[in-house]
Amino acid sequence: MPDNVSELSFDEFDELNDPRAEPTGFEHVVSRRRFLGGAAALGAAGAFFGLGALRPAHAGDMGALSFEPVAANSLDTVTVPPGFSWQNVIAWGDPLWSDGAPFDHATRGTGASQERAFGDNTDGMATFFIDGRTVLAVNNEYVNRSVIYGNRATGLPENADDVRKGKAGHGVSVFEVGMADGAWRPVLDSPFNRRITADAPMEITGPARGHDMLKTAADPAGETSLGTWNNCGNGRTPWGTYLACEENFNGYFSSSDPDYGVSDAMKRYGVGLKDWGYAWATADERFDISKHPNEPNRAGYVVEIDPLDPDSVPKKRTALGRFKHENAEVVIAANGHVVVYMGDDERGEFLYRFISEGRYAEGGDNSGLLESGALSVARFAEDGSGEWMALTPEATGMASIADIAVFTRMAGSAVGATTMDRPEWVAAHPGRAEVYCCLTNNKNRGKKPNKGGDPTPVGGPNPRKGNIYGQIVRWRPAGGDHTAAGFEWDLFVVAGNPAVHDDANAGSANVTPDNMFNSPDGLVFDSKGGLWIQTDGNFKNEGDFAGQGNNQMLYADPDSGEIHRFLVGPKECEVTGLCWSMDRKTMFVGLQHPGNKGGGHFPGGGDTTPRSTVIAVTRDDGGEIG
Ligand code: FEO
Ligand code: CA
Ligand code: CA
Ligand code: CA
Repeated sequence: MPDNVSELSFDEFDELNDPRAEPTGFEHVVSRRRFLGGAAALGAAGAFFGLGALRPAHAGDMGALSFEPVAANSLDTVTVPPGFSWQNVIAWGDPLWSDGAPFDHATRGTGASQERAFGDNTDGMATFFIDGRTVLAVNNEYVNRSVIYGNRATGLPENADDVRKGKAGHGVSVFEVGMADGAWRPVLDSPFNRRITADAPMEITGPARGHDMLKTAADPAGETSLGTWNNCGNGRTPWGTYLACEENFNGYFSSSDPDYGVSDAMKRYGVGLKDWGYAWATADERFDISKHPNEPNRAGYVVEIDPLDPDSVPKKRTALGRFKHENAEVVIAANGHVVVYMGDDERGEFLYRFISEGRYAEGGDNSGLLESGALSVARFAEDGSGEWMALTPEATGMASIADIAVFTRMAGSAVGATTMDRPEWVAAHPGRAEVYCCLTNNKNRGKKPNKGGDPTPVGGPNPRKGNIYGQIVRWRPAGGDHTAAGFEWDLFVVAGNPAVHDDANAGSANVTPDNMFNSPDGLVFDSKGGLWIQTDGNFKNEGDFAGQGNNQMLYADPDSGEIHRFLVGPKECEVTGLCWSMDRKTMFVGLQHPGNKGGGHFPGGGDTTPRSTVIAVTRDDGGEIG
């Protein structure tokens, strides 16, 4: 492992530790299908730009929400439009109970202090309301090793307590927030406050419960597991539960036996002999795959949590499949079935849909709806049509629904799903059957197959070879029915840099030098049908990315296609996670890993330790903000 391991992103780790095999016969597949790279391909896809004709952007004229767009910048602070304000709500290491220790910039905390405090790397989040109180559930995706272990010369965990701190920095933080002196603050000692970490007891539910491949020495029944980690995007169900989605779960496993034979199934999910710098196996043997080879099969799921019942046991919902889950967008179809749209964020992986077996009952008991149902995977055709391919034993050749729930990627490959440019968040329009998904980027597009060897030809919703900017695909289910097999798709926006490029890398017509961005990731509709786009991309502000500045949040009108920059985050951060107060007058926004490359100190400034932070954004006139 290189010296600078702790400064690499997940993406960089993955490429370093598990580079894709060179394609075998892949170029042949590409040329046989006569897919074209670059501008020609984008021109073809351009036929599908805009279900409604996209119009040029006009500053300040944005339907539901009007604001003066923010210019790109590289400042180490948050920028919002005139007439809006922001404040910090909570940052990594802030205690949730009065017996917790205030964040210590020198030691950066201990295992014990971290277990009583907000985790690192704030990501997906949602608000819940009870008796006039506001409860935030927030994913703490992973920890920035160079930051949380900045007290160590190596920037890495060096002993068992360091590992304990790292595990406690992961998972989910649930806590009440309230207004104190005009500002949103965590309510210390609230009965709702809870930390769910990489060691919290979980129940395994659904088709894979009790599967032989999930049985371990500690859990011979394969029905319970410990912990959730690398929780990226989220979901929120209409029955008031929170969905935490396990993404890069693989990077925590390692082998004490250097000659251990890593299985093909492990390789498909990126599990290998070395972890990504967390060293969990040094203090917790279950992360040693040579001793507990089934342990990785117990991660990579959507976890359902009741945030208003601190004693509830989180449930791993295996019916929703096992892959690198980004978020879980829940809609109730017209026929009452619950539909969950989910991306698998890895280069060349797939887009999935779950349809519940049962139907939603307003005010009834919906607690088992994610227990069983039908899983399918998307195939996009060049002509703007698409279909959901059922993942059944018959269609996949796999032995059982339980096998498909555990090895979902292989099932997708078996039915010929479309390899995508890293599906990140999915968001469904609140007013009509129309769904959007960020395809963040994919430097391997048209160059290398995915981990399963599936080709990644240029075309369809993935129109650019070596895609560095990303795009947002959207689809309309046939007949407005989220459970229909067919859909129509187009590209809502193709990100690019029109100041640097005049080919496909300039982006679609609704990208201008004033609103340009790269690597769309977080994607959330507000209650009024405004679409919020959050980015996790290159912030160097030079070369291909000149003029794009720090990562940001943009507001888009799905009807006109107009996009305006609303917020710019601090240096080196990713903007991810978005939800609202009950009165819609406050917007909570997540700022993940500011300063994690060593060049920023948000939120404290000076030479303080940079910390992932949830901020609150409000309008100065007290109006609603989505
Ligand atoms: Fe954790 Fe795909 O972002
Ligand atoms: Ca993400
Ligand atoms: Ca991302
Ligand atoms: Ca991230």
